[in-house]
Amino acid sequence: MNDKLKPDNANVAVIGAGYVGLVTGVCLAKLGHEVVLIDIDEDKIQAVNHKKAPPIYEEGLEELLGQVHIEASSDYRKMMGSDIIYICVGTLADDSGNIFSEHLIDATRKIAEVLKERDSYYVVAVKSTVGPGMTEELVIPILEASGKKAGSDFGVCMSPEFLREGQAIYDFMNPSRIIIGEYDKRSGDILCSIHESLNAPILRTNLRTAEMIKLATNAFLATKISFINEIGNICKQLGIDTYDVARGMGMDDRIGSKFLSAGIGFGGSCLPKDIRILVSGAKQAGYQPEFLEEISTLNEKQALKPVALLKKHITLKGATVGILGLAFKPGTDDIRDSRAIIIVQALLDEGASVSAYDPLAVDNFRKLFPGIDYVSTEEVLSCDAILILTEWPEFYDLDYRGKIVIDGRRIEKAREARIYEGVCW
Ligand code: UDX
Repeated sequence: MNDKLKPDNANVAVIGAGYVGLVTGVCLAKLGHEVVLIDIDEDKIQAVNHKKAPPIYEEGLEELLGQVHIEASSDYRKMMGSDIIYICVGTLADDSGNIFSEHLIDATRKIAEVLKERDSYYVVAVKSTVGPGMTEELVIPILEASGKKAGSDFGVCMSPEFLREGQAIYDFMNPSRIIIGEYDKRSGDILCSIHESLNAPILRTNLRTAEMIKLATNAFLATKISFINEIGNICKQLGIDTYDVARGMGMDDRIGSKFLSAGIGFGGSCLPKDIRILVSGAKQAGYQPEFLEEISTLNEKQALKPVALLKKHITLKGATVGILGLAFKPGTDDIRDSRAIIIVQALLDEGASVSAYDPLAVDNFRKLFPGIDYVSTEEVLSCDAILILTEWPEFYDLDYRGKIVIDGRRIEKAREARIYEGVCW
């Protein structure tokens, strides 16, 4: 293989058609690369090959899928001619941050199995979020079990993604930077060449540093949120508006205004998990990461504040409580580690009945809470009290007059309520 791939015409295989894999595959196809998507889930394969609604909700993904040529298959041999093989399988983690690496191991074994027949050079690039050292200590040994040698027969990279749900296509096409952890220069050169058309700064480093950049980046975003929530809790005691404080802080370019929106805390499939992975990795390395652990602890406590505030105003036992927002953030149907899960459970434990509304996430939430009512915004507003848990745009136009509202996401219009409390303002 020529080590300088054409920036708009490489053969790329993407293993795993989940959130990261699908967005990565479709965007690389949009950049002109020949992409084959490999997954074990036939439904996902059919959806992609028939240009049907992708198996995940992501703004603009269905349209983009309709515009590009991309093939999906469960047959790993389809990647025999690929120059670059991205591993984008899911790496969930348990509550202690131990990664379920089964999918990663399985995919890597299948790659090694297929490519042991291959004579020409190729690069395997890990894009899944992994613990520090996993590419060197887990992925490479499995690939080399094929008898091939890293460095000579194949190259290895670790190139994390920083995609936000709801803005993933924009984030892929307009990255603030591209991180390329490389086994050697040859591996890195090849991965660089297919990103040239994105005109973004590229940081080349080694494999485990790239892994840590991903984890530390998400941990820092979570730190900003837990920090502003702690400041918010203090401000609320002192009658100071946290959002004014955040505006003043954010004007300092050493701090920046992003990720300073105080509220009920962070959720989603990444921030909570990546902190757990980092904490677990640190402990395995013999370091007690007290600060990082505290970020998660505060985040869990923060989610329960709306229930505590509500109890100041009504008796929960036998009350009907309305919920506005179930998704972990607006723009997605994803409820993974959504703060609404903790809050709804706490309300049910207190003997309240819950009526909830969300424009996209009801089907997912119903799988966890089949016993609560899923209603319209009007019906939520007719409950004894209302909790706002996700800042969907439509909530900025509702009529809150005469209501009891605990606001977890700073919906200014809700201040017109008879009783209004911000969770930390
Ligand atoms: C995050 C990272 O942003 C992304 O770079 C990475 O690749 C994956 O994880 P995502 O999980 O989509 O992306 O969510 P994000 O937009 O980061 O929000 C995470 C959580 O933090 C949400 O629950 C959101 O409501 C909360 N949040 C965000 C705040 O509470 N305050 C803020 O100021 C920003």
